[in-house]
Amino acid sequence: MSEQKRDGFTSGLGFVLAVMGSAIGLGNVWRFPHMTGSNGGGAFVLVYLLIVFLIGAPLLLTEFVIGRHGQRNAIDSYGAISPKFRWLGYLGAFTSFPLLAYYIVVGGWVLFYLVESIMGSLTALPGDQVGAFFGGFIGQVKQPLVYTAVFMALTFFIVVQGIARGIERWNKILMPLLVIILIILALRSMSLPGALEGIKWYLTPDFSKIDINTVIAALGQAFFSLSVGLCGMVTYGSYLSKKENLSRSVLVVAAADTAVALLAGFVIFPALFSFGVTPTAGPVLIFITLPQVFAQMPLGVVWSVFFYILLLFASLTSAISVMELFITCAVEKMNISRTKASIGYSIVVFLLAIPVSLGYGVWSHITLFGKNFLDMYDYYCANISNPLTALMCSILIGWVWGKKGAMAELTNDGTIDNAFTRAWFPIVKWVAPVAVGVIWLNSVGLLKF
Ligand code: PHE
Repeated sequence: MSEQKRDGFTSGLGFVLAVMGSAIGLGNVWRFPHMTGSNGGGAFVLVYLLIVFLIGAPLLLTEFVIGRHGQRNAIDSYGAISPKFRWLGYLGAFTSFPLLAYYIVVGGWVLFYLVESIMGSLTALPGDQVGAFFGGFIGQVKQPLVYTAVFMALTFFIVVQGIARGIERWNKILMPLLVIILIILALRSMSLPGALEGIKWYLTPDFSKIDINTVIAALGQAFFSLSVGLCGMVTYGSYLSKKENLSRSVLVVAAADTAVALLAGFVIFPALFSFGVTPTAGPVLIFITLPQVFAQMPLGVVWSVFFYILLLFASLTSAISVMELFITCAVEKMNISRTKASIGYSIVVFLLAIPVSLGYGVWSHITLFGKNFLDMYDYYCANISNPLTALMCSILIGWVWGKKGAMAELTNDGTIDNAFTRAWFPIVKWVAPVAVGVIWLNSVGLLKF
């Protein structure tokens, strides 16, 4: 039981930084560009923006409200409102495994690029060989797995020492630096020859390209990027004091998260059109585009080293939040020590990451519905499990808990009132269940538009 004293966030700023650390990561810099690339550019961006603010942000708020109300691990926080919804906590804890498993593989790729940047070999590559270079790396058995293991180990060390929230303080300095470096890269990318085509493609929505698949992809991306639907934010909310202004924190986080994703697009797409990389390259997209941008910059080595350090940090603070949610459940529910839980969890996640990594090499022939392991894990997390959890959260709040209790928690007993808090409940009760429900049924193939 959670009789033992739980430590919490000592300040509102600490909380916002931690949530931002969780939200901003590979989802913005890696996943957003490749999703945009594969789903038609501007049309996807438009649908994405609408979903982030109309559905994603309100649902992020549901997680905070549930967590702060419960003041316990995700499973018991759901249970505090209705025991019938405890399974959402279990589902989140379960889904954290595949999610972290592919996250650490991509984190390993970032680490590899950092090392190669430091050695100067990345920026020395001729543009037309970057794809082959990266393909050669991920196609191997051992090397990418070593990097994956190192990324997992870094996450492990931070979580096991319980210093995640100490690390998050670095966000205050490193996140703004990430934004600055992205702006500089975007300016370079946008001034490359032929860049204008890319900017147009990125910003002009071609409405004929919007279909249910665009919407499914945008919803998955919104949830993934905002860390919604994994219960990680229930966990963070549970460490929060009753004084915090939840609605304001959510808006700040959603705005910052979206800004970073959009910026990453301004780096990738102009460059991509300039260098003739195809936008539909998938998960490898940023890895074959970015080195070519660095190679075109004075002091490219320095920029790329800085950039990969910052991206690595941003990904670690996201990975921490995924792991932390499971560890909090394990420590409070199963009564095992933080260290034991962390060791066991890291080992299982690493084992699950092995097929993901091999899926780009010796196991590339193994596919399900045309998806390799990374795409399978990713689809399960972002399009099946996370939306289902978010959908159930909205039903729990809108239909089970009801307006009175939920609004009292959200507004700190009526002391906070703004347009967002007023719009929140009707969105959670009506809009989110219908919209997410319909999209989810399509994702799992039960409904076909
Ligand atoms: N939001 C993180 C990112 O964009 C990933 C994440 C998803 C973290 C779900 C926690 C929960 O990189």
